[in-house]
Amino acid sequence: MLGSVVLCLLVILSQWISTLPTRINQIPINNRPIIGILTQEVNDQAMKPFGKAYIAASYVKYIESGGSRVVPIRLTMSTAEYEKIFMSINGLLLVGGSSNLETSNFARVAGIFYRLALNANDAGDFFPIWGTCLGMQLLTFLVAGENLLSETPAENMSLPLNFTTEANSSRMFEGFSSDIINALSQEALTGNFHQYGVTIETFQNNDKLVSFFSILSTNKAKNGAIFVSTMEGKTYPFYGVQWHPEVNRFQWDPKLAFPHSSNAVRVASLLAEFFVNEGKRNLHYFNQSEEEAMALIYNYTPIYTGNISAYEQAYFF
Ligand SMILES: *[C@@H]1O[C@H](CO)[C@@H](O)[C@H](O)[C@H]1NC(C)=O
Ligand SMILES: *[C@@H]1O[C@H](CO)[C@@H](O)[C@H](O)[C@H]1NC(C)=O
Ligand SMILES: *[C@@H]1O[C@H](CO)[C@@H](O)[C@H](O)[C@H]1NC(C)=O
Ligand SMILES: *[C@@H]1O[C@H](CO)[C@@H](O)[C@H](O)[C@H]1NC(C)=O
Ligand SMILES: *[C@@H]1O[C@H](CO)[C@@H](O)[C@H](O)[C@H]1NC(C)=O
Repeated sequence: MLGSVVLCLLVILSQWISTLPTRINQIPINNRPIIGILTQEVNDQAMKPFGKAYIAASYVKYIESGGSRVVPIRLTMSTAEYEKIFMSINGLLLVGGSSNLETSNFARVAGIFYRLALNANDAGDFFPIWGTCLGMQLLTFLVAGENLLSETPAENMSLPLNFTTEANSSRMFEGFSSDIINALSQEALTGNFHQYGVTIETFQNNDKLVSFFSILSTNKAKNGAIFVSTMEGKTYPFYGVQWHPEVNRFQWDPKLAFPHSSNAVRVASLLAEFFVNEGKRNLHYFNQSEEEAMALIYNYTPIYTGNISAYEQAYFF
């Protein structure tokens, strides 16, 4: 009798032990992530009547489609307030636009979050940042400590990515099937809307950029310059794309070259999910559910802007 009880216990114990390693190796995952999106000053005359700051709704939808909620971050808060927001969100998206890299409030506040994220990651508090177009340019400015932009015009141009060999071992493209990698390297799935960028020569001659980021792809501008089109942090979870993955699913101006093929949609879905999954590795949270509710984008209603800008809708603040 006693023998069979002991045996039974041993069986249970050994089954439990066999499940232990996976439990120990499991990284805690936050399945209710919130990504912060920095608002940007309104520079466009046609949009000025609606507010001083805005976020194009395509970026909000992009993050939401990856499985995250969004908190808009205003440009008029104190450093202490930004520190509190930082401890409440799980990642940051720096959007495209036309703000000045050195003198705008957008750049100033991005710098505060960038330094908080550097320190957090150094202390083992995983915090991802994604920069799109201007957002990517800002990341190069923050890392290099100087403005390295030059003319790399690629306005309204869809391009395939010219992958580097480093793309092959990247985190960003790790979950992409070889079919979709082939499509990205052959079909014009990336929408470009920029005048400036960082050329491959400038990048490779800058020790700070070279040691911080891996170049994952390059492209050729209208003037023949080869610019860095995709990059990721070697050790930090910081990512940059000079192109616009959010337009593939959420912008429809028929006068602009937005890629909408099923492969283009797939690429944008995969990247949105990739970045949100990075955010799921961060465990910051709002202390109070009321505070969280008040901070979320659901407190704002996007306005139709399809007749005054290339954005279908925008949030104003
Ligand atoms: C949450 O509350 C604790 C204790 O009051 C405080 O130390 C911490 O800074 C708060 N965190 C956030 C994100 O508000
Ligand atoms: C990496 O190389 C493998 C084998 O050549 C290929 O199937 C895959 O698509 C490559 N991935 C990237 C991101 O280039
Ligand atoms: C593609 O990449 C190769 C090697 O990285 C480079 O030599 C070439 O100039 C690039 N071409 C374009 C169009 O980006
Ligand atoms: C943008 O590119 C598309 C496709 O190449 C072209 O049809 C359209 O005229 C261009 N629009 C502008 C404003 O340049
Ligand atoms: C744009 O559309 C909105 C909503 O339909 C309308 O109220 C507004 O007057 C339009 N603006 C212009 C400049 O046509």
